[in-house]
Amino acid sequence: MLQSCAACHGQLGVSAIPLTPSLAGQPDGFLQWQLVFFRSRTRINEVMSPISATLTDADIRALGAYFAAMPAASLPVEKDPDPVLTERGSKLAQQNRCASCHGERFEGDKVAARLAGQHEEYLNKALIDYKEGRRRGVGIAAMPNAVGPLSSEDIKALSHYLARLR
Ligand code: HEC
Ligand code: HEC
Repeated sequence: MLQSCAACHGQLGVSAIPLTPSLAGQPDGFLQWQLVFFRSRTRINEVMSPISATLTDADIRALGAYFAAMPAASLPVEKDPDPVLTERGSKLAQQNRCASCHGERFEGDKVAARLAGQHEEYLNKALIDYKEGRRRGVGIAAMPNAVGPLSSEDIKALSHYLARLR
C-alpha cells in the first residue's frame, strides 16, 4: 500500500510533483483527518477519493503515524525569484495570524497542516479550494474563515512565502 503512495507522494514522503503535496512531517492528526475526508467524500479529489475508499480505520492510523514520523522535506534552497512577493507573503501571514494555528515555524500542529516547504502550486490550489468552498476542513471552518478576506494576489504571496520556509 505504501508503495502505491510513493508513486505520487515520493519514496520519502517528499513529492516531486507540484500539485501533489509532500506528506513527510505532517502532523499525524492532520493526515488522518484528510484521509477520512477523502474516504467520506467530504474532500473530493479524483485521485485520492478512490484510493481512500477502501482504507480501514486501522490503515488510516498506520498511514498517519508512518508519514508523520518521516523527516519533512529539506529541498535545496533555490534563489528566490521574487523576494518582494516573499516579503508581502510574510506580512500577510503575520497580519492574518496564520502561525497561531499552524505553529511558530509553520511546522503544523495537531489537525493543522505543516505549511513550511510545501509546494507553492499546491498551497495556492489548497487555499483557492477553501475560498471557493470545495474544501471545508476540520472543526468550525477555521480555513474558510481564514481565507475569506484574502484576494487571489494575497493567496499567491502567502504560497510563495510559505513554500520557501525551512
Ligand atoms: C496517483 C497519484 C496519487 C497516489 C497514488 C496517492 N496520492 Fe495522495 N494525493 C495525490 C494528490 C494529487 C493530492 C492532492 C489532492 C488535492 O489537490 O486536493 C493528494 C493528497 C493527499 C493527502 C492530503 C495531503 C494534504 O496536504 O492535504 C493525503 C493525506 C494523501 N494524499 C495520502 C495518500 C496516501 C496515504 C496514499 C497511498 C495509500 C496516497 N495518497 C496515494 C495523489 C496521489
Ligand atoms: C484557527 C486556526 C487556523 C488559522 C488562523 C489558519 N489555519 Fe490554515 N489550517 C487550519 C486547519 C485546522 C487546517 C486543516 C483543515 C482541513 O482539515 O482541511 C488548515 C489547513 C491549511 C492549508 C491546507 C494544507 C494542506 O496541506 O492541505 C493551508 C494551505 C493553510 N491552512 C494555510 C493557512 C494560511 C495561509 C493561513 C493564514 C491566512 C491559515 N492557514 C490560518 C487552521 C488554521
